[in-house]
Amino acid sequence: MATAELAGKHLVLGMTGGIACYKIAELTRLLTKAGATVQVVMTEAATQFITPVTMQALSGRPVYTSQWDARVPNNMAHIDLSREADAIVIAPASTDFLAKLAHGMADDLLSTLCVARDCPLLVVPAMNRQMWQNPATQRNVTQLRADGIEVLGPDSGPQACGETGDGRMLEAVATFEAIASFFSPKILSGRRVLLTAGPTFEPLDPVRGITNRSSGKMGFALARAAQQAGAEVHLVAGPVALETPWGVFREDVQTAQQMHDAVMRSVADADIFIGVAAVADWRVDHASEQKIKKTAERALPTFTFVENPDILASVAKLPHPPFTVGFAAESGDLELHGEEKRVRKNVPLLIGNLGPLTFGMDDNEVILFEAAGATKLPRADKQTLARALIVEIARRLPDTSLIR
Ligand code: CTP
Repeated sequence: MATAELAGKHLVLGMTGGIACYKIAELTRLLTKAGATVQVVMTEAATQFITPVTMQALSGRPVYTSQWDARVPNNMAHIDLSREADAIVIAPASTDFLAKLAHGMADDLLSTLCVARDCPLLVVPAMNRQMWQNPATQRNVTQLRADGIEVLGPDSGPQACGETGDGRMLEAVATFEAIASFFSPKILSGRRVLLTAGPTFEPLDPVRGITNRSSGKMGFALARAAQQAGAEVHLVAGPVALETPWGVFREDVQTAQQMHDAVMRSVADADIFIGVAAVADWRVDHASEQKIKKTAERALPTFTFVENPDILASVAKLPHPPFTVGFAAESGDLELHGEEKRVRKNVPLLIGNLGPLTFGMDDNEVILFEAAGATKLPRADKQTLARALIVEIARRLPDTSLIR
C-alpha cells in the first residue's frame, strides 16, 4: 500500500454524521501508520455515530468538536487547526455538509474551518442513493468540483438502509489510496497504461487446470503506482485474490489466450504496456468438456500441449507499439538471461526479478535491462519498488519532458 506520499503530512480529518463513521476508525489507523498526523474534527452529528474518545485514541491527538473549545489558546480553532494542514479531508461527507460547503456556510467548527482554509479540501461523500441522486446534491457536487474541491467516490453497492446503489462511502483502504494518490507527483498525467498481472489458468477439464504461483502483487502495485502518478490505468488480471486498486479499470481473464485478446483489443489506446503477468507458455489442446474420470484399468491421462501466444512479443511487434516493458522471473543467472530475453522479446526495457522466490512475497529486488546496460534497484517492498519503477519508466518515455 502506498505510504511514502503521506509520511510527514498533516491532515485535518473532518467527520460529519453518517453510519460510515465506522470506516474512519480504520482510515485513521492507515493514515497514521503511513506517517501522517491526523487532527480529527467532528460535527455534533458525527459524535452520535462514533465517540471522540475512540477517534482520539486512534489519532493520538485531542479531538475538536466545538467552535467554542477553550483548549485553543486564542479561541481561534477555526483558523488555527487548519493552518499547518496539507489538506482537509471530510469523511464521511454527509448530504447536508456538501450543501453547506457548496454555499460557503460556516455555522459550526468544521464548516468554518473549511471556509477559512488555505489548503486543499477533499470530500468523501456517504449517503443513501436517493440523497446522492437528488438534483440538489448533484448541483452541489458540481459546484464543489468547480470550486476546486476533490470529490472522492462515492462507491456503489448495498447500503446501510438496505437499498443498493450509488452513494456509499469508499472503503477505508480505497479512501486511503485516493488520499495518497492526491499527494503523488503526476509524472504520468495524460498517459494511458495497460498492464497484465497475475497467473493464467489453463483448463484440463471443467474442474482441473494448470496455473502458477504468481500472486499478482507486483502487477497490482504497478497499476496502483501508475494511477497515483496520474495515468489512466487498464489492468488485465489473471485469477488472483486481490482488491482492485482505487481508480484502476480492471478486466478479469483466466487463460493466456483471453489475456492476449483483452490486451490486443485495448493496446491501440495505450502509451505504455507493462507485461507483468506470469503467462502460461502452453495450454492443453482441446481441454476435456467433461471431468476426466479414472478408468477401471487405471490408465494415466495424456495431454497434448500447444503453444500460447506471446502477449509481450505480439505488442512489441505492432507497427506502432506503446512503450513496452517486460518482466522476467528466472531461476538462475538472471544477468545472462535478462538481456537475452529483452532482445528476443524486442522490448526497450525488461525488469528482471532477482530470484523466482519473490512469488507471493511482499518485497522484491530487480535489475533493469535496456540497450544501455543493466541497473540494479535496491530491495524494497513491492509498492515502493512499483513507485520507483514508474519513475524509471516515465523517464524513458520517448517524448516525455515531464520529469528531469
Ligand atoms: N509473456 C507474455 N506472454 C507469454 C509469455 C510471457 O506476455 N505467453 C511476458 C511476461 O508477461 C513477461 C515476459 O513475457 O513480461 C517474460 O516472461 P517469461 O515467462 O519470463 O518469459 P518466456 O518468454 O516465457 O521465457 P522462458 O519461459 O523461456 O524463460
